[in-house]
Amino acid sequence: MTMRRTARAVDLRVSVGDVELPNPVLCASGTVGYGTELAGVMDLAAPGAVVVKSLSADPWPGNPAPRLDAVPAGMINSVGLQGPGVAAWTAEQLPALRAAGVRVVASIWGRTLDEYRRAAELLAPHRAGILALEVNVSCPNLDDGEHLFARKPTSTAAAVEAAAAAGLPRWAKLSLVTPDVVAVAAAAQEAGASAVTLINTVPGLVIDVVERRPVLGAGAGGVSGPAIRPMAVRAVWECRAALADLPIVGVGGVATGVDAIEMLMAGASAVQVGTATFASPRAAERVCAEVAVWCRRRGVPAVSNLTGAAHRSPTGATG
Ligand SMILES: Cc1cc2nc3c(=O)[nH]c(=O)nc-3n(C[C@H](O)[C@H](O)[C@H](O)COP(=O)(O)O)c2cc1C
Repeated sequence: MTMRRTARAVDLRVSVGDVELPNPVLCASGTVGYGTELAGVMDLAAPGAVVVKSLSADPWPGNPAPRLDAVPAGMINSVGLQGPGVAAWTAEQLPALRAAGVRVVASIWGRTLDEYRRAAELLAPHRAGILALEVNVSCPNLDDGEHLFARKPTSTAAAVEAAAAAGLPRWAKLSLVTPDVVAVAAAAQEAGASAVTLINTVPGLVIDVVERRPVLGAGAGGVSGPAIRPMAVRAVWECRAALADLPIVGVGGVATGVDAIEMLMAGASAVQVGTATFASPRAAERVCAEVAVWCRRRGVPAVSNLTGAAHRSPTGATG
């Protein structure tokens, strides 16, 4: 008699703090627009959630073109956080996202604490249609000179506190432009963040040697894609090791199901797909399907079992 294998469905549900998601693969901020721009080429309700591009309290023009370029194993961008401002977004984009059944994570940025506060206040009346608020601290801190908020634990904490006005679960979106990302994550948690999103793009520069000038209109930019995945995995690993009760959303170079599983095993509860979306708008959906197949083939009943799994291994790296 041949044994028939029962193909049990893998439980893809995860939670990031109190935020429950039907699957662990989200779209990363800045890579799927503000609203339903990509609705014709992907099902925006398929990802665990869509993090919309970071919004400021007021409309912002962004940086001069060119804003994107290809680099080995990824891309570099300096879009400069162009956007319509929170009020226009809630009036013109959020209703369409809700009507399409999209699980929306909003994202805000500011150059001063007052700008974070105002952006959060403008979102507050609309919180019923928003799952969580990503607080993007990878922007210049004018209150504190020219450093990015993400550079210092105190600046990050202040921005996270200012964003409390939205009345939403706050995910602090951190960057590696700091000597100690664990200290920044701890400060974000202390300030009320219910999760951290790790990591934003990594500073980089590409020079056009014929023109003898930087390729991007703004000069330097942020590198994303597979080139930064090991850095993101390490940041997730270190934060998980030091702050076991702080949920993590892992982002940086995830392009396949195995990449996502690596991020989960490092300590993430969910992952985001960014740059891979430029090559294929349905990348997040595909990555999720690959995660499900991987789990099914290995007898993993629930994807949430994988969070931090590499820390439990006796060979788990610490260096
Ligand atoms: C073109 C572009 C625009 C982005 N805009 C934002 C943004 O507005 N806010 C933000 O928090 N991150 C932004 N990011 C960073 C991504 O959300 C993500 O953290 C980063 O790209 C690493 O993930 P990836 O390698 O999968 O792209 C942007 C990335 C790209 C490539």
